[in-house]
Amino acid sequence: MPARSEGGRGAVPRHVAIIMDGNGRWAKRRLLPRTAGHRAGVTVLTPLLETAGRMGVEFLTLYAFSTENWIRPESEVNTLMELFLETARSKVPELNERGARLRFMGRREKLPAAVCEAIEEAERLTAHNDRLNVYIALNYGGRSEIVDAARRIVADGVPPEELDEATFGRYLYAPEAPEVDLVIRTSGELRVSNFLLWQIAYAEFYVTETLWPDFSPEEFVKAIEWFGTRSRRRGGV
Ligand code: FPP
Repeated sequence: MPARSEGGRGAVPRHVAIIMDGNGRWAKRRLLPRTAGHRAGVTVLTPLLETAGRMGVEFLTLYAFSTENWIRPESEVNTLMELFLETARSKVPELNERGARLRFMGRREKLPAAVCEAIEEAERLTAHNDRLNVYIALNYGGRSEIVDAARRIVADGVPPEELDEATFGRYLYAPEAPEVDLVIRTSGELRVSNFLLWQIAYAEFYVTETLWPDFSPEEFVKAIEWFGTRSRRRGGV
């Protein structure tokens, strides 16, 4: 049997990363404001995390807000920040009881103070859990992450000859997480959108036309099963 993250023969990916896209279009089709789409998007989370844990996924990373999303209308950004706060308050205790460990990736300095406090509280509360590791990418950019790593490497005085891929990886936001096995993107877009640029080097890509608020546990299972049919060669034959 191959190691499970090698894919093929029904393997389950260890680390799944999801680009949750299509909230705005979901709302537009219903003649609702975009923020209604984001609210609907939150309802997908609990069943998804439950299914991921049950299937044996160990790490799940969700792209919630990118370093580029600040250019959206101020009212939408504010609603998203309020929604993150509300979601933290309403869902974190439940996720904690279900054994999820929550961590956040991204630059915190630009986030509202209340959001930073909620992040710290969620990380503290769930730090002892080990059923499912959930990372929320918030004010996250793959390029910023690489630049931040490079800055810390320079600040630490790492000699150039000692800098290899393993050392670089230890300076990323979540050095303890294994590389991504499967990326899922909803709403049909074929783009990476500055998500986990370092970690997805050998990931398999699953793109579905389904808009994020309609992304069901059944569809997640379908993506995992598809991964199980892939043969991952990583540059080999
Ligand atoms: C993309 O839809 C979605 C986002 C900007 C991320 C927000 C995600 C949620 C609110 C889901 C809940 C997540 C957490 C962690 C609380 P879009 O606005 O880009 O859609 P569009 O491309 O159709 O306009």
